[in-house]
Amino acid sequence: MLHEQTEFEDIIQKHPQEKRALIPILQDLQTKYNYLPPVALNMVSQALNVPLIDIISVASFYNAFSLEPKGEHQITVCMGTACHVRGAPLILEEFERKLDVEAGHTRKDGKYSLDSVACLGCCAIGPVVVVDSEYHAQTGIRDAGKITKMLEKKEKTND
Ligand code: FES
Repeated sequence: MLHEQTEFEDIIQKHPQEKRALIPILQDLQTKYNYLPPVALNMVSQALNVPLIDIISVASFYNAFSLEPKGEHQITVCMGTACHVRGAPLILEEFERKLDVEAGHTRKDGKYSLDSVACLGCCAIGPVVVVDSEYHAQTGIRDAGKITKMLEKKEKTND
């Protein structure tokens, strides 16, 4: 068994081998790997005797889970009503252009993931953009460029 598979096995075995353990197991996998690796999902399916398709629908339903590896930097644009009416769709589009990645995906080089969410619960300060868990309030189209530059600068200093 590969090292990673042993790690998946350890996570699965920490929980009761019952259907009700599905979400806690997915949460543990997501926390450890920042996404849900396909091999791990297969193992969960066998251990809990839950069809893989059901696991994938659960994983797709909850925003907290990702079926795709996440980038080194995570940019999330709030598209809830309050942010939407203040221009969030244009901000999201600008991020797509500047970061060269479609919303809901991770750039091929693994540097950036761009996502949208329904509402972050802080509508008064919208449009809100979260960059690596840091909240940016009252953002505009120009901020997409500024934030992208800031991230690129960080990348260069890390190289
Ligand atoms: S709509 Fe954006 S924080 Fe609520």
